[in-house]
Amino acid sequence: MSTDRNTADITYSELVKLGLQGIAANILECERCQLNENATNKVIMRGSERPKVLFIGEAPGKNEDEAGIPFCGRAGKILDELLDYMDLEENEYAIINTVKCRPPNNRKPTHKELKTCRPFLLAQIELLDPEVIILLGTTAEQAFCISSLNWGEAVITPEGKHLMKLYHPAALLYRRSLIEQQKKMIDRNRDLWQKIQ
Ligand code: URA
Repeated sequence: MSTDRNTADITYSELVKLGLQGIAANILECERCQLNENATNKVIMRGSERPKVLFIGEAPGKNEDEAGIPFCGRAGKILDELLDYMDLEENEYAIINTVKCRPPNNRKPTHKELKTCRPFLLAQIELLDPEVIILLGTTAEQAFCISSLNWGEAVITPEGKHLMKLYHPAALLYRRSLIEQQKKMIDRNRDLWQKIQ
């Protein structure tokens, strides 16, 4: 058995000590699961390192894998519209995913893959330290929460963060009615990010 320390041994608290750049370096080297084998690029984060609002998506798709940037394809256009509707400036938000490598054929990450990538996710959340965390869809919810949330209903986490689940932008691509529902959920919760200076 090898006694070398590799990325598979690094825990969440060790990652936190390394800071965001150190986490990124560990993600780039990571071979904890098979998803890395077909990744063109690891997809780490986009946006501010001091965000008011942190969005957590599911997994990189084809465009994201090619560019190494979260939500830069079709779902990203919808997310950009959402950011606009929320009146968030570029320095007020960040976007990450539950897993950092594209799953084959855009399938959902498995429970095992979510669990394997979780230390990266939790360390990113800790260091980005947002006031509001928005889970985009149920995969993000599974990766982050123990219990299930109601759509658009904010709760407070034990760490004092506002936490809310919204529809994943890809779910809104062809469903006008969901877009309207999503806008209502945002309208009901604007105070969460607008009252923060
Ligand atoms: N869908 C996601 O969940 N994340 C991305 O980065 C792109 C599409």
